[in-house]
Amino acid sequence: MRMTWLGHSAVHLETAGKSVLIDPFFTGNPKHPKGWEDGLERVDAIVVTHGHEDHTGDTVRLAQKYGATLFAQYEICMWMNGQGVEKVQPMNTGGTVEEGGLAFSMVPAFHSAGIMRDGEPRSMGDPAGFVITGSEGAVYHAGDTCLFSDMKLIQRLYQPKVGFLPVGDRFTMNPSHAAIACNELLELELVVPVHWGTFDLLTGDPRVLEKEVRRGRVHIAEPGVPFEL
Ligand code: NI
Ligand code: MN
Repeated sequence: MRMTWLGHSAVHLETAGKSVLIDPFFTGNPKHPKGWEDGLERVDAIVVTHGHEDHTGDTVRLAQKYGATLFAQYEICMWMNGQGVEKVQPMNTGGTVEEGGLAFSMVPAFHSAGIMRDGEPRSMGDPAGFVITGSEGAVYHAGDTCLFSDMKLIQRLYQPKVGFLPVGDRFTMNPSHAAIACNELLELELVVPVHWGTFDLLTGDPRVLEKEVRRGRVHIAEPGVPFEL
């Protein structure tokens, strides 16, 4: 299983012979290695955790370019289908969809998910996290969320070995909250902090996570540099 952090919450996952992009926010993401997303051999699936633009990002363009299937909440799928994403797998919290040897499970996240259009807020469905399970194990991408005790249920249901957890504070958990998730709720082998350092508003320091996690190995990833489980 090979993973690459692409700045903010964007992740590329290669597992079980498949290529998956999660929250592909590249345009306007200052930490993203320029053009990286256009050099891929293929993308089978794009997973979007919620409707905020720092997560939906370049989904439409990349889904079209690679012919990838979009996995997201119903509202996001329908909206992007209207913008030209042909293959969509609309789903909702609690559900699992299998495609091409991977299982995509949508799990809760505590956050908002609306966007502003013409000065008015518009619903984009609920925020979510995802667990992606293949023959090499399961990966949990928490999306944007606070700490919540039902992360324990996510562990029980899907046994993720890898977790991408937001630590930037203000809009999500801070690093100490994420450390509590690792120490008390999840049983991750590898913990990767995301949603930090992109903008000045995100003040959470991943080194605090590294210091406080007692269960699992913390990897502070470099954007564009792949790592393995
Ligand atoms: Ni958000
Ligand atoms: Mn966000």
